[in-house]
Amino acid sequence: MRIAVFGANGPTGRHITHQALTAGHDVVAVTRRPGSVPARPGLTVALADATDPAAVDAAVDGTDAVLSALGTRFDKGKITTYSASAMAITGAMTRHGVKRLLVVSSSIADPDWRPSGAHFFNHVLDPLVNRRLGRTLHEDMRRMERAIRGTDLDWTLVRPSGLFDHPHVTDYTTAETSADGVFTARADLAASMLHELEEERYVRKAMGVVTTSVKPSIVKLIWNEGVRKK
Ligand SMILES: NC(=O)c1ccc[n+]([C@@H]2O[C@H](COP(=O)([O-])OP(=O)(O)OC[C@H]3O[C@@H](n4cnc5c(N)ncnc54)[C@H](OP(=O)(O)O)[C@@H]3O)[C@@H](O)[C@H]2O)c1
Repeated sequence: MRIAVFGANGPTGRHITHQALTAGHDVVAVTRRPGSVPARPGLTVALADATDPAAVDAAVDGTDAVLSALGTRFDKGKITTYSASAMAITGAMTRHGVKRLLVVSSSIADPDWRPSGAHFFNHVLDPLVNRRLGRTLHEDMRRMERAIRGTDLDWTLVRPSGLFDHPHVTDYTTAETSADGVFTARADLAASMLHELEEERYVRKAMGVVTTSVKPSIVKLIWNEGVRKK
């Protein structure tokens, strides 16, 4: 398959790109920083801002499926990256007859999802980080989900919980709507998306994905995601 990967240069997108190439797919890595994507057999790099319909159109042309793991930082102001990129990507897919779309969203986009972690996570990190600092980001994720649900495409909204880095794919869990767990390894998120591309269990549905067999250290997580990534 020839797969367009949006956010290919980000931490999850790099896993998707690597795993897809390893599985024998061709990948069009879509990024605003093409110089930072090392060349590999089967890989084409496309320069595009995902909110620019013309650039997205060119990147999607000739592909069989689109996977998106793009994301942006928390901001007090209104965020539009998710919804604007969803409009550009789904518009291009419709024009080019590309049907299959898997987009990373978040368990927070499920209004009924509540964390089932340790006290500190449930009562400090989730209200502060997810609900307060991440409020405008998650509002735009919900707009993105609504825009995608309104299309005729074969979409899957992929909802991880708190992302962390782990080098290997584990025996992750998926579930319809959202999954019971507070963490998702990026390698597992990527693997679940490529698996779903083949399996088609969650077409026109949301798919939760969580990692339970390994856990990140909370201190490392705050450092990596909140401080180092800025
Ligand atoms: N952190 C968590 O705990 C958590 C939990 C649930 C869900 N999520 C979501 O999971 C997704 C993946 O997260 P991540 O940490 O792996 O990646 P990320 O750091 O959020 O960003 C991924 C990439 O998106 C690309 N991007 C941003 N705006 C773009 C634009 N306008 N056009 C093209 N590319 C753009 C950037 O690549 P370039 O600069 O190379 O273009 C960036 O490297 C995000 O949507 C995030 O919100 C995160």
